[in-house]
Parts: sequence; structure tokens; C-alpha cells
Amino acid sequence: MTTVVLLGAPGAGKGTQAVLLRDRLGIPHIATGDLFRAAVRDGSALGVQARRYMERGQLVSDEITVKMLLDRLAEPDARDGAILDGFPRTRVQAEALDAALAAAGSQVDRALLVEVPERELVRRLAGRWICSMSGHVYNLAANPPQIPGTCDLDGSNLVQRADDKLETVQARLRQQLAALADVVDHYRDANVLAAIDGLQPIPDVTEALVAALAAARSAG
Ligand code: AP5
Repeated sequence: MTTVVLLGAPGAGKGTQAVLLRDRLGIPHIATGDLFRAAVRDGSALGVQARRYMERGQLVSDEITVKMLLDRLAEPDARDGAILDGFPRTRVQAEALDAALAAAGSQVDRALLVEVPERELVRRLAGRWICSMSGHVYNLAANPPQIPGTCDLDGSNLVQRADDKLETVQARLRQQLAALADVVDHYRDANVLAAIDGLQPIPDVTEALVAALAAARSAG
């Protein structure tokens, strides 16, 4: 079983990289943000609860988030492991993941931190467009679609995420960066942390992440 945790501030490029890593590693990409957005779209009880936090740029409670993630990890496609994107976001979540993996005789293999300075995060989130059918991610500056407003992969319309409005972006950064620092410390203490320069072009970030994983495997 291989469990890789992708860490980074909102807009650091976790989702962009998780999709590319999934194709390289052959294990599923599980994003708690995507799971919450799907629940909001479905209008489920989970979605109604999560929406209240997401609209304010706050983290959803640990209790709700941990249960949702562990349920998803128990699905058959994650039997050989997963790339976790956006989880854990607090020390409580990190400890819950450690406990669940330990119960299965496993552990987090590598926590990869994609580092990007705050001013660049705001710029990236303001320029982000998502495809309405499958969530493929574009950026007007760094990764534009071939036809403006249309997804290259499935032809659906591109839309902006509700929480990419400037006030919500600022709230997300204000409220979530301290918790991220705590989680980074948790994995540094466990000796599984690798930090990657997220200011590089997208393919270079992918190569740096793959190299960090390979280095961990040869050391282990
Ligand atoms: P979530 O969906 O996880 O949002 P996030 O962490 O804020 O991360 P983003 O999806 O905004 O950014 P990303 O790092 O994936 O960047 P992306 O690849 O899109 O969470 C949303 C909400 O759900 C949270 O606010 C919270 O309320 C809740 N939630 C989720 N998980 C939770 C948890 N565990 N606990 C509690 N609550 C939780 O890239 C951004 C842009 O930059 C794109 O336009 C992209 O094209 C561009 N880009 C990417 N890489 C590069 C590059 N190298 N150079 C230039 N541009 C780039």
C-alpha cells in the first residue's frame, strides 16, 4: 500500500499535480475538496453542513472530514493506496489518518509540500477556471485552454469556483495557513516530509515530486 499526502496552501497546485501523479503512480487521487463539492452539488446532509464552512473559507470540522475521508479510503479502488489532496489539513486529521493506516499495518509513505508564496497564490486562484463536467483545472496565465471558456478534454464550459472570489480567497489564506504549518510540522517530525518549489512550471513541479518519491523509496 502506498499513501502519499500532497500538502500546500490553497492554490499551490495540489489538484493539478495530484492528477498528473495519479497517472504516474497508478493509485487514485482523493481530494476532500472535490468530495465536499460533490456533496454540496447533491444537496446531501453532508453537503449542507460543509457548505456553511466552505462559503466562509473555513475548514470543515475534523469530525465530518475524517469520517468522509476514511469512508472513501475504504473503497476497493484505494486498496493499494492513494494520493491524498487537501487532507490532512489539521493535526487532528493527520493523527486520525496515522491511526487508520497503522490499524491496517501501514503508514504515510511521503508528505510532499508544494511551496508557493502568498502573493502568487492569490494570483493563481483569481485566474483559475474549472471545467463544469469533470473539474479539469485551467489557469488564464499558466495553463490556458485552447479555446477560451471551453475545456480541452471534454468540451464543457469553464466556470469559476464559488470560493475563488477575492474575499473568500483572502479568508481561506488567513484561516488555513496556520493549520497547514501544524500539519507540515507533524510530517517533518515523522521524517517523511519533502518540500518542492511550486513556483516552477507545472511539468517541472511534477518531476520534482516524482524525484522526491523515488528518493524516499530508495532510502527506505
Ligand atoms: P480544496 O478544494 O482542497 O481547496 P484548496 O486547498 O483551497 O486548494 P485549491 O483546490 O484551491 O488549490 P490547489 O492547491 O489544488 O491548486 P490548483 O491545482 O487548483 O478545499 C476547498 C474547501 O473545502 C476548503 O476551503 C475547506 O472549506 C474544505 N476542505 C477541503 N479539504 C478539507 C479538509 N481536509 N479539512 C477541512 N476542510 C476541508 O491550482 C490553482 C491554480 O494555479 C490553477 O489555475 C492552476 O492551473 C494553476 N497552477 C497550478 N500549478 C501551477 C504552476 N506550477 N504554475 C502556475 N500556475 C499553476
